[in-house]
Amino acid sequence: MKRNRSFSLLLSLLVIVFFTFSTISVEARKSNIKNELHKHHKGSHRSSHSPCPVPTPLPPHYDPQGSIFDVLSFGAKGNGVSDDSEAILAAWKGACKVSGAIVKIPAQFKFLIKPITLQGPCMPDLTLQIDGTLLAPPEASSWPQSSLFQWLNIKWVQNFTIKGSGTVDGQGYNWWSSSEFYDIQKSYSKKIPGMKPTAIRFYSGNFVTVRDIRIINSPLCHLKFDNSKGIKVDNISISSPENSPNTDGIHLQNTHDVEIQRSIIATGDDCVSIQTGCSNIHVHHINCGPGHGISLGGLGKDKSAACVSDIIVEDISMKNTLYGARIKTWQGGIGMVKNVTFSRIQVYDVMFPIMIDQYYCDKQICKNHSRTVVISGVKFDQISGTYGMQPVHLACSNSIPCTDVDLTDIQLSPSPKYRGFKQAVCWNSYGKSQGPLLPLSIDYCLRSAGGLIKRIARSHDRVCY
Ligand SMILES: *[C@@H]1O[C@H](CO)[C@@H](O)[C@H](O)[C@H]1NC(C)=O
Ligand SMILES: *[C@@H]1O[C@H](CO)[C@@H](O)[C@H](O)[C@H]1NC(C)=O
Ligand SMILES: *[C@@H]1O[C@H](CO)[C@@H](O)[C@H](O)[C@H]1NC(C)=O
Ligand SMILES: *[C@@H]1O[C@H](CO)[C@@H](O)[C@H](O)[C@H]1NC(C)=O
Repeated sequence: MKRNRSFSLLLSLLVIVFFTFSTISVEARKSNIKNELHKHHKGSHRSSHSPCPVPTPLPPHYDPQGSIFDVLSFGAKGNGVSDDSEAILAAWKGACKVSGAIVKIPAQFKFLIKPITLQGPCMPDLTLQIDGTLLAPPEASSWPQSSLFQWLNIKWVQNFTIKGSGTVDGQGYNWWSSSEFYDIQKSYSKKIPGMKPTAIRFYSGNFVTVRDIRIINSPLCHLKFDNSKGIKVDNISISSPENSPNTDGIHLQNTHDVEIQRSIIATGDDCVSIQTGCSNIHVHHINCGPGHGISLGGLGKDKSAACVSDIIVEDISMKNTLYGARIKTWQGGIGMVKNVTFSRIQVYDVMFPIMIDQYYCDKQICKNHSRTVVISGVKFDQISGTYGMQPVHLACSNSIPCTDVDLTDIQLSPSPKYRGFKQAVCWNSYGKSQGPLLPLSIDYCLRSAGGLIKRIARSHDRVCY
């Protein structure tokens, strides 16, 4: 027994010794590794040609902000004098190939740009970020004759946005002042072209947004959408002088599914102009004036076909405009205007707040035609404020009357700033009026339509299907 005990004691002693040694050796090895690491680390700091790889930045593909193509990095000077057209074209070309890219026009610089075409198709979600100023060439006489149609031509883009706190300046002064001059003295004033450019024109754009920017002093129309769909205009401001000729704010043509909202438009012509081939247009929360109000047309010029439908214009404030809510057609055209609502329009000193003119004419006398663009289903609802000349003027075609024209809750009083007012006039216009109606002449204006009249009118809309 005694021997056995001393044996097991010896055994446990050996075990303890073994563990102690192995622990010490592990610690020693650990500290060796630490030393090695430390040495290596220090060495790499001292050595200029370390074998350690420098971490590479993530490729642009992973940049959640998208890639930025700043025109300054493409050679733009931004001094407002040098021609920066090539730089913006180069930046566009690069950005066009990258999904979610941004072409940047930086703040505090002015870029003089000749007429250019920014062309798609591009990768989706391209943005033109305008924080600085884009300037059109100031001299009308030196404008390239081949591009009188527009200054900035943006075509075939999809899922594209223009935004920023910057300004697009068409520098139209030379064009406006020369316009009458040119017509009268054409023979010896050849330097100024007869046609004038639109500032920004979209052709065949799908899902385009224009927001936050300012567009000013265009030679002609400021912002135009042609042959496009899925358009959103939000929080922009447009301005040019009251006496600048034909300076429409926003012009729509052959364009569908549009929302124009929360914007300020002050120009020499229509704040918003809706032309042939437009449908599903929603215009709301706009401050308009000075200018010519919000118009459909002129439609059917030179005996052309015109189709406009499903238009809502609402929550508009108009100040010092010539017209308010207006539809104008030329005699001799064909086609149809239908389902149009003008609602909640506040007018201040507007000469003709409510107007349909089917005798639109740019000369003193135009020939009477029996053909006309048919108008049916137009609601004027909650239109109130002050007028300068005539509260309601509905002049429909002699041959085909306007049908389903409704005047509801119209409260217009003569503006103290003017005199010589005219009574409400409705010619060949059928529909309902509902109170309150002010002045009272509105109440007797419309005729009530029988089924025959409506059928005649409707039989003329085949062109649009
Ligand atoms: C473009 O935008 C529309 C509407 O927001 C969307 O339905 C469509 O999927 C987008 N297309 C691309 C290619 O991103
Ligand atoms: C509207 O645009 C202005 C000018 O770019 C900007 O400062 C403002 O934040 C925008 N407002 C909204 C609601 O987007
Ligand atoms: C009239 O147009 C509006 C706006 O586009 C649309 O929502 C509505 O369905 C149209 N009504 C008819 C009867 O077509
Ligand atoms: C055209 O018709 C209108 C309305 O009937 C009439 O007032 C005008 O005198 C006519 N114009 C011409 C040139 O015949």
